[in-house]
Amino acid sequence: MSKLMNTYTQFPIEIDHGHDFHLVDTKGKTYVDLTSGIGVCNLGYSNKAIFEAVTAQLNKIWHTSNLYPNSIVTKVAEELAPDGYQAFFCNSGAEANEAAIKLAHKATKKETIVAFDNGFHGRTTGTLAVTGYPHIHSGFDPLMPAVKMATYNDPAALDEIDENTAAVILEAIQGEGGVNVGDREWLQSIQAKCQDTGTLLIVDEVQAGMGRTGYKFAFEQFDLVPDIITVAKGLANGLPVGAMVAKDEVAANFKPGDHGTTFGGNLIVMSAADQVLQQLTPEFLQSVREKGAYLMKTLHEYLFDLPGIKSISGEGLMVGIHLDDSTPVNDVITALQDEGFLTLSARGNTLRLLPPLIIDESSLQAAVNAIASAVDQVEEMEG
Ligand SMILES: Cc1ncc(COP(=O)(O)O)c(C=O)c1O
Repeated sequence: MSKLMNTYTQFPIEIDHGHDFHLVDTKGKTYVDLTSGIGVCNLGYSNKAIFEAVTAQLNKIWHTSNLYPNSIVTKVAEELAPDGYQAFFCNSGAEANEAAIKLAHKATKKETIVAFDNGFHGRTTGTLAVTGYPHIHSGFDPLMPAVKMATYNDPAALDEIDENTAAVILEAIQGEGGVNVGDREWLQSIQAKCQDTGTLLIVDEVQAGMGRTGYKFAFEQFDLVPDIITVAKGLANGLPVGAMVAKDEVAANFKPGDHGTTFGGNLIVMSAADQVLQQLTPEFLQSVREKGAYLMKTLHEYLFDLPGIKSISGEGLMVGIHLDDSTPVNDVITALQDEGFLTLSARGNTLRLLPPLIIDESSLQAAVNAIASAVDQVEEMEG
């Protein structure tokens, strides 16, 4: 029996190394990667500038502690936080959201948090409580109390936000929950209700942020001005990181001792994050939007009429292909692996694509062809 705890369902593929947007397994088979390590290695597997910055830092010092200031941490905060915001660094998306929830309680002195079905915010007892999949709560009571769940994109959700609400937490585009794009008017109305009731708006950009949708933050497309932003995944292109970014006046509620973590702002991680943020230039983000538009157009052309396909959603290089129940997503993923393409699932029998943002159009075209034939093959077998 393995000494490793059985917490993940795994495919029988061991990745040995990667280059650009390709992964090579221990048997020497090469795959086009459409996963980025679940939205993490957005700049691919051989980014020279990140490699050199991390190597230089490894040669200097790996870790000190937050007892001493360090200019690289301050620099990354400046690059990450928009004007009028401040950053706190931690190690994961769940930790960033935990920090956001703590700060919201401290800043508002209120208790309730409103969250949404199909929203995913992490698996700690706090973030699990605001994650909208009842089945993954099962067996873990008591979770954080005072959470109200509402329906995403439903105007009735506004009724859940009142003077007792400390914060609303949401993803502008839900990732794990099925690549569900927030309705612009609805997001705006949630923001307005938050402003009316003295509620903080926390936008979780852990998956959709850091260039994934062609914007540094996905919420920019919806003209939102969150009180708190959380990021992680792509921020250091594969080194463990999280960050909570809050408006100055909200951030001011945290005093020394209120929050912290040993590895937050680790120097190796920050040297990678510095390079990632420098590479998210307007031109690079524009190229992601163009590739996203190309992918969406090609998917519609090749897939839309197939019997196994219900709909296609997403923005930029964050795409969900919603499959008919007769076409189980895991069978499609396995068929694609055989053909040399790695893909992901999301809730609701959704095939999810999160390719490295450096992927090229010819590989996107090849992926679409492979997806069309995998869906056809599985649909014929099952249907
Ligand atoms: C939107 C969102 N928030 C939070 C998390 C949790 O991040 P982590 O796994 O780094 O704790 C995830 C992970 O998939 C996510 O997609």
